[in-house]
Amino acid sequence: MSDKTTITEQLPRHIAIVMDGNGRWAERRGERRNAGHRAGVNATRRIVEACGQLGIDALTLFAFSSENWQRPPSEVGMLMALFIEALGREVKSLHEKNVRLQFIGERSLLSEKLQRKMSDSELLTAANGGLQLYVAVSYGGRWDITNAARRLVEEVAHSGLTPGQVTEERLHQCLALAAVKDPDLFIRTGGEHRISNFLLWNLAYTELYFTDALWPDFGPADLELAVREYQQRQRRYGRVPQQHEEPG
Ligand code: FPP
Repeated sequence: MSDKTTITEQLPRHIAIVMDGNGRWAERRGERRNAGHRAGVNATRRIVEACGQLGIDALTLFAFSSENWQRPPSEVGMLMALFIEALGREVKSLHEKNVRLQFIGERSLLSEKLQRKMSDSELLTAANGGLQLYVAVSYGGRWDITNAARRLVEEVAHSGLTPGQVTEERLHQCLALAAVKDPDLFIRTGGEHRISNFLLWNLAYTELYFTDALWPDFGPADLELAVREYQQRQRRYGRVPQQHEEPG
């Protein structure tokens, strides 16, 4: 990556990515959509490596949404098989790179085999202090908030939580990404300009970046462009320009 001295100043600490465009990438080459998803896994590996090298603290990737279950069963089956295969192939190398891998989403809908691979990977990498990699599978922002509300209601029933004790901070602590700072930078590839039910709560003050590049074509140089644009943004968090440092 070029000119590393300047890019490391004011790096986004947490990047969230909607990896869109695998299907179109394949269709444009006259190939089946599955080929695009396979190429998408290769792009994922390159971007995870690039984030690690840049010194990004956390990366959250949208691999399969709550709504993706509505795709044709053949594509869903292929994606699930691909996740199992990719985990089997990549986890050792992620571990060697000190990456901590965690999954967010509704696991009960996934096959037992995939659930087992996910827990094994989380266990293997649990003590790693390098890049914190979150992969969202069977995840939706509305699912996440609903789940948090359900947990709060359980606290009402079991430990007498009162309405006045339901604060933003408490709800945040019940969300899937409670352990990590909210994303600084959101990237969506594939040309669409929407959030698509990704981290609805956590993206409240995230800087949004959209690119036409299809995910399999998105490489470290494209990541660098996104980071450089982020570094030009002035983050105000609803305040006036003189006060734009991050709220405590
Ligand atoms: C969007 O392309 C991508 C997905 C639905 C998820 C698949 C992602 C991967 C296979 C890469 C990540 C893999 C791992 C193991 C984390 P699309 O099918 O929506 O493309 P389209 O908009 O062109 O149809």
